[in-house]
Amino acid sequence: MSTEEEIKEVFGHIKNLMMAHKEIGMEPPPVSKEMLGYMEREVSEVPPYPGQSDYPDSLEGLREVLGDCKRCKLHKSRKKLVFGEGSPRARLVFVGEGPGREEDLAGRPFVGEAGELLTRIIERGMGLTREDVYICNVVKCRPPGNRDPERDEIEACLPFLRQQINIIRPEGICTLGRISTQELLKREIKITQERGKWNSFMDIPLMPTYHPAYIVRNPSRERELKGQVWEDVKKIMRHLGLEVKKND
Ligand code: URA
Repeated sequence: MSTEEEIKEVFGHIKNLMMAHKEIGMEPPPVSKEMLGYMEREVSEVPPYPGQSDYPDSLEGLREVLGDCKRCKLHKSRKKLVFGEGSPRARLVFVGEGPGREEDLAGRPFVGEAGELLTRIIERGMGLTREDVYICNVVKCRPPGNRDPERDEIEACLPFLRQQINIIRPEGICTLGRISTQELLKREIKITQERGKWNSFMDIPLMPTYHPAYIVRNPSRERELKGQVWEDVKKIMRHLGLEVKKND
């Protein structure tokens, strides 16, 4: 890890700590004015994400560069590449794992059964529309049989996801499930332990929660899992300044 990346990571941790304090109604940890000034100066001196500057700075441009992508073996079995969709000015980006059967056919993210649940969370839970947010995946082509994406597939696709997020620069990211959380945080995680906790990616607050497909696959635990996702979503809503109804 370069010194710049280390500095960013340390400040990311401090930010998360401050947000966690705010969340539970506590005063922020005692950080002196001098320290705050130092943090701001240091952060602004760090150049924006080296390596990403070679990519177009619009979503349309990035889609064009991707073209009829054959950068990994998933292109052989995919029907349609699923780039992602939503607002280029979204305040919130959802990141899933990879397209499933329905998404592969439609060329759109989260349109199958898990997608219907995600749509309900966005619309009924958050009071937003799919067009208000941005929805994308770690890999843009369907892994055969819905297996987990493999390392070489993820590595080929991740620079495009990074640039999508870099272009949008949302105020928050919600990772859905273990794979997307792990890939953005660059460490192995257990989703049961990590969900509901603020992290950061590219200096953007990141909240992991369960993948909606996990809830769909576990009907006997539906109530419990949905309750946990709702707790996580409420944290995101508070972070974005969206109204959370009293009894929710
Ligand atoms: N699951 C995902 O991770 N992404 C989709 O787009 C659909 C299902």
